[in-house]
Amino acid sequence: MRSLLGGGDLALLCCFFLLLPLLSHGADMPPGSSLTPANSTSWSSPNSTFSLAFAPSPSSPSLFVAAVSYAGGVPVWSAGAGAAVDSGGSLRLSSTGDLQLVNGSGAVLWSSGTAGQGVTAAALQESGNLLLKNSSGGAVWQSFDHPTDTVVMSQNFASGMNLSSGPYVFAVDRASGNLTLKWASAGSATITYFNKGYNSTFTANKTLSSPTLTMQTNGIVSLTDGTLASPVVVAYSSNYGESGDMLRFVRLDPDGNFRAYSAARGSGTAAEQWSAVSDQCQVFGYCGNMGVCGYNGTSPVCGCPSQNFQFSDPSNPRQGCTRTVDLANCPGNSTMLELDNTQFLTYTPEITTEQFFVGITACRLNCLSGTSCVASTALADGSGLCFLKVSNFTSAYQSASLPSTSFVKVCFPGVPNPPAGGTGTSSSRASGLRSWVVVLVVLGVVSGLVLCEWLLWWVLCRNSPKYGAASAQYALLEYASGAPVQFSYRELQRSTKGFKEKLGAGGFGAVYRGVLANRTVVAVKQLEGIEQGEKQFRMEVATISSTHHLNLVRLIGFCSEGRHRLLVYEFMKNGSLDSFLFRAAGTGTGGSDAAKAMPWSTRFAVAVGTARGITYLHEECRDCIVHCDIKPENILLDEQHNAKVSDFGLAKLINPKDHRHRTLTSVRGTRGYLAPEWLANLPITVKSDVYSYGMVLLETISGRRNFDISEDTGRKKFSVWAYEEYEKGNVAGVVDRRLAGEEVDMVQVERALQVSFWCIQEQPSQRPTMGKVVQMLEGIMELERPPPPKSSDSFVTATTATTGSTSGVSSSMASTFASSAMAAPVPSPNPEQEIAVGRSASARNREIASLPLRSSEPYMTM
Ligand SMILES: *[C@@H]1O[C@H](CO)[C@@H](O)[C@H](O)[C@H]1NC(C)=O
Ligand SMILES: *[C@@H]1O[C@H](CO)[C@@H](O)[C@H](O)[C@H]1NC(C)=O
Ligand SMILES: *[C@@H]1O[C@H](CO)[C@@H](O)[C@H](O)[C@H]1NC(C)=O
Ligand SMILES: *[C@@H]1O[C@H](CO)[C@@H](O)[C@H](O)[C@H]1NC(C)=O
Ligand SMILES: *[C@@H]1O[C@H](CO)[C@@H](O)[C@H](O)[C@H]1NC(C)=O
Ligand SMILES: *[C@@H]1O[C@H](CO)[C@@H](O)[C@H](O)[C@H]1NC(C)=O
Ligand SMILES: *[C@@H]1O[C@H](CO)[C@@H](O)[C@H](O)[C@H]1NC(C)=O
Ligand SMILES: *[C@@H]1O[C@H](CO)[C@@H](O)[C@H](O)[C@H]1NC(C)=O
Ligand SMILES: *[C@@H]1O[C@H](CO)[C@@H](O)[C@H](O)[C@H]1NC(C)=O
Ligand SMILES: *[C@@H]1O[C@H](CO)[C@@H](O)[C@H](O)[C@H]1NC(C)=O
Ligand SMILES: *[C@@H]1O[C@H](CO)[C@@H](O)[C@H](O)[C@H]1NC(C)=O
Repeated sequence: MRSLLGGGDLALLCCFFLLLPLLSHGADMPPGSSLTPANSTSWSSPNSTFSLAFAPSPSSPSLFVAAVSYAGGVPVWSAGAGAAVDSGGSLRLSSTGDLQLVNGSGAVLWSSGTAGQGVTAAALQESGNLLLKNSSGGAVWQSFDHPTDTVVMSQNFASGMNLSSGPYVFAVDRASGNLTLKWASAGSATITYFNKGYNSTFTANKTLSSPTLTMQTNGIVSLTDGTLASPVVVAYSSNYGESGDMLRFVRLDPDGNFRAYSAARGSGTAAEQWSAVSDQCQVFGYCGNMGVCGYNGTSPVCGCPSQNFQFSDPSNPRQGCTRTVDLANCPGNSTMLELDNTQFLTYTPEITTEQFFVGITACRLNCLSGTSCVASTALADGSGLCFLKVSNFTSAYQSASLPSTSFVKVCFPGVPNPPAGGTGTSSSRASGLRSWVVVLVVLGVVSGLVLCEWLLWWVLCRNSPKYGAASAQYALLEYASGAPVQFSYRELQRSTKGFKEKLGAGGFGAVYRGVLANRTVVAVKQLEGIEQGEKQFRMEVATISSTHHLNLVRLIGFCSEGRHRLLVYEFMKNGSLDSFLFRAAGTGTGGSDAAKAMPWSTRFAVAVGTARGITYLHEECRDCIVHCDIKPENILLDEQHNAKVSDFGLAKLINPKDHRHRTLTSVRGTRGYLAPEWLANLPITVKSDVYSYGMVLLETISGRRNFDISEDTGRKKFSVWAYEEYEKGNVAGVVDRRLAGEEVDMVQVERALQVSFWCIQEQPSQRPTMGKVVQMLEGIMELERPPPPKSSDSFVTATTATTGSTSGVSSSMASTFASSAMAAPVPSPNPEQEIAVGRSASARNREIASLPLRSSEPYMTM
């Protein structure tokens, strides 16, 4: 029996459902209620998200299937696994409480088997679950426990359940949690053509108790089990993390593949987001018995092994092939016809019983002489294996990339297929020529039309501001929903006028000004040195865009196309903090306000805002983020001079192999803000950000780079000199001289200065957390006198002096510098301080901690 839930006739189903009068709206259906195809009755869930009704059967329009469908008409469950009834049939809740599918003749085709169990009503829930409940509201039976071929969000698919579709069955193995796909047909052994454990580092060597597969609302297919600490990811839907009014589900399709889908509400169509079997031709029996699966372009096509065969059903090649003359009735003797680059699919259990170590000639001859053997395959992949096919159902795969050679037993003489994929029509030269002429004419006409249309567009729309309105509307919708908008590269090229107006160049790539179709001004960052895959990139983008805070720059969207990786941020009118603090160069983005220095009250507000933004990254958002590159250039100011931290979450995107990149650009810009543990190759934690913040805070107070060395600072680094002045009680001497004559709250200045010294302590454990920093700045928390920071300069002095008497950390530093080798990270002295960058702590630490090593040479020469 063919399954109802095929992709084929969705459009038909969709129309049917749109025409339906919704008769019962979320009400419980008492015993005696029924649905019929004839009077188009339906039961729907409270908000009409799902409805239960009869729909035309995909296999025959005169028959009907009782199905629960998502708004718009995507079926997710059917009574009796797609059993079809004629127009006189019905689905009824009998007075005894049994839900029955009845044929027009009165035969019960399927029943829930709940007669006499106290069922008092049937109800369709908002989740799509069809529930038979008793008087106390308990579930006596529910469709979620009896899935047909689909599992929707919030439905649990436990081991022991199965999905079926035609000859195919999907299940989760109880002990290993492996996803299994089987082909089963009467008279043949059940073939397991897919058996895969996902994320085996988590499940290997474990015996699970009762693994459960779920489709999460965010599009992640996961496996949970009592013995696992957290759900194991089976697959990410390609649009995971995207929100919207949609249904996500996994389904065993009639073609034997297991896929994840999403369907927008009301659309009636589902879009594929992931498939378990990436090579469709590996699905056993996809092309029926004796069928040969191959690809024409990217879609699988079915053919027959040779002209000794014909399609069983010429209108449906998937039904397989039959011999023109049966082997038993061969007029002469039989022979083995050779099929190059072809493999007869062999899976468990056949793989264990019918595999032999023999050469290609023996592989052919053994099958010819075996009476029950119909075909054989010599793998020719170096394994020396030969498979003999003795079953009466065989399934073949042909591809130029397969090394194997197969033989199929046919009556003498064997007639091979004509070359180049033709499926056995008499191909005369003339008809070939004619089709070429047709193709050329069609191509010519089509390209002419395209050219005309393009010219029209060029003339009419090129300068119209309305151009792109549709996509803008779409983008706005997505923007409003909070999900990052995916832009095409061309769209971004257009909005930045071909990347013309450069705003700056950061450690991760250049930033350009752009205007979206909806007139939003944005900053487009063109990431460089990103070697990550699409999936990883989208994952990071999802993390970044789910991080919202007043003091963080908001990510609007992204682009991931080929090697292009771009991020689209909200545009900050006032540029970055450095242009206000270090006026000398005077090349800020806001050129107009280059006259007066930033007043103290604004500076203090920026410092507190920045601290709040970083606190949010460290402590308050779901996936903890270590920024790794806090510096005035990455603190942007909006129109009201609110601080907005930018570039967070990007450190994870840079491929650790690409050291060069970081060395040349970002580290030079970051020099002076890196915590000593970066250089010592120790694990990077949130405390490294605290160090960088401390330096930024000092610069905000003083208006000078922390690593500046000049005559006024006694040829010492500014940060070292500042502490000495503070020790002497000369706080005023550290404050930006451009603030002289203005009103400056010296209590605030002293507090800020002390906080900055606490932040730049050499030992990460001595630095406060960002949360504490905020409290200290605001005066909520008492401040002790900070000890001398002993900043990273001492490292430099130690190594340049080349004396043997360096401290523990310094000497490891020295050796690291000397060898410039990539040492493994040393465990942190206080591991409880460690909050890893991203998900896999140690791996990330290694990546990030190893980045700046090469770049330390410019330091040394300073
Ligand atoms: C639909 O038909 C069924 C059976 O013929 C009947 O019980 C039911 O009352 C009908 N419903 C409506 C709304 O006509
Ligand atoms: C139905 O929709 C309303 C409004 O959209 C919502 O408040 C309510 O929670 C929904 N009910 C269910 C069961 O989802
Ligand atoms: C249902 O009834 C129709 C005719 O009344 C019949 O052709 C069909 O085979 C029946 N279906 C089943 C599954 O019994
Ligand atoms: C209703 O069903 C629930 C769960 O199946 C059961 O615990 C409860 O005892 C039942 N109540 C009655 C009145 O049968
Ligand atoms: C699928 O599950 C049903 C009931 O849960 C069971 O009757 C059937 O045998 C199962 N099929 C396979 C192939 O395991
Ligand atoms: C295979 O043989 C069995 C009997 O051994 C038969 O029931 C079944 O229909 C055959 N299958 C095919 C595809 O010929
Ligand atoms: C589970 O799948 C893995 C491959 O992913 C395979 O090596 C292993 O044998 C499978 N386990 C079981 C019990 O089938
Ligand atoms: C897991 O299995 C591998 C190989 O089968 C074995 O080497 C390893 O010791 C096992 N680990 C545990 C924790 O049992
Ligand atoms: C494995 O599962 C863990 C926990 O669910 C998840 O963090 C990780 O990304 C998964 N790995 C892969 C390769 O899917
Ligand atoms: C691929 O197959 C489809 C239908 O099976 C056919 O329409 C199309 O022309 C084929 N394409 C090529 C390149 O052979
Ligand atoms: C089969 O018949 C052909 C022609 O009649 C002959 O050349 C060939 O040797 C025969 N093969 C066997 C194995 O008998």
